[in-house]
Amino acid sequence: MKVAIVGNGAIGNLLLLKSIKMHLEVGVIMRQQRNFTLNATDIAGQSHQIDINSITLASLHDFDMLILPVKAYQIVDVLRQMQPYIAPTQTIVLLHNGMGVIEDAKMLLPNNPLIAATTSHAAYKPDTHSVVETGLGNCQLGYVLNPPNNTLHNERENELKSAPKNDVLQTVSCSQVLDTLLAPCSWQQNIEQALWDKLAINAAINPLTAIYKVKNGQLIEAKYQAMIKDICAETAAVMSALGFLGSEEQLYQKVLDVAQATSENYSSMYQDITHKRPSEIDYINGYICREAEKHAIDVPLNTALVSQIKALA
Ligand code: PAF
Repeated sequence: MKVAIVGNGAIGNLLLLKSIKMHLEVGVIMRQQRNFTLNATDIAGQSHQIDINSITLASLHDFDMLILPVKAYQIVDVLRQMQPYIAPTQTIVLLHNGMGVIEDAKMLLPNNPLIAATTSHAAYKPDTHSVVETGLGNCQLGYVLNPPNNTLHNERENELKSAPKNDVLQTVSCSQVLDTLLAPCSWQQNIEQALWDKLAINAAINPLTAIYKVKNGQLIEAKYQAMIKDICAETAAVMSALGFLGSEEQLYQKVLDVAQATSENYSSMYQDITHKRPSEIDYINGYICREAEKHAIDVPLNTALVSQIKALA
């Protein structure tokens, strides 16, 4: 099983570290082909030096699975560039914050098995050549197009059980590799519900931390509670109109839980705004606003957050 990781963002580099620990054959694809050593610090504080010789688009056909832990606004461009080099047998995994690009991905690669994933694993890049794992999270995944035939999957599982230990990574399926790489994982029949749950969390944590320049954990302070509740109420109204589960109270609790669990982290939007990079606001609060408009729901707070973040960018 050969896995290609697209980009060298914090989560991409974290997956690279985990792949190396799993002895997986892995390649990294970057905008320009480069050789460098990545200094990766795992959650136990242990450091690892990983020599990276990034691969070219033309060698993509060597890989069984392509994972895209890139920004939501990069996905369509990246898939367009990769499209001529991708075979229909290759599994594509989308792993990004925000929503609104899966339909484009389905149109660009209609014949490939396509997985959408969301993770709460946490990592940050102190500089271009380093990554630090800052939190153990989990991952939810689901096929959104062309799931593998179940019989084949079961046959592979049996094959795996009888395979000698060293051969395990050659015989496993993509889903089994993801189970280890992104562990603990849960596979969802309805991955859209999980994506909306994550969107609701990002819709509160990301813009507030970026606007007020605070770590995730500081959002637990009393002064932010009314705002968080109001954002959750708007998101819950849109989710309910679309048929997804999630009351204001449940979403609010999830936001507080994640803010607490990642209290020492600076959110991705805080980091994007601080480093003058484009933010994912159009795919987070902007997506909520677009879906709200379709159902004539007022979302004044989400609308204001989009404008405030754009003014900071
Ligand atoms: O975007 C992020 O930073 C993360 O998705 C989350 C969950 C808000 C934690 O920082």
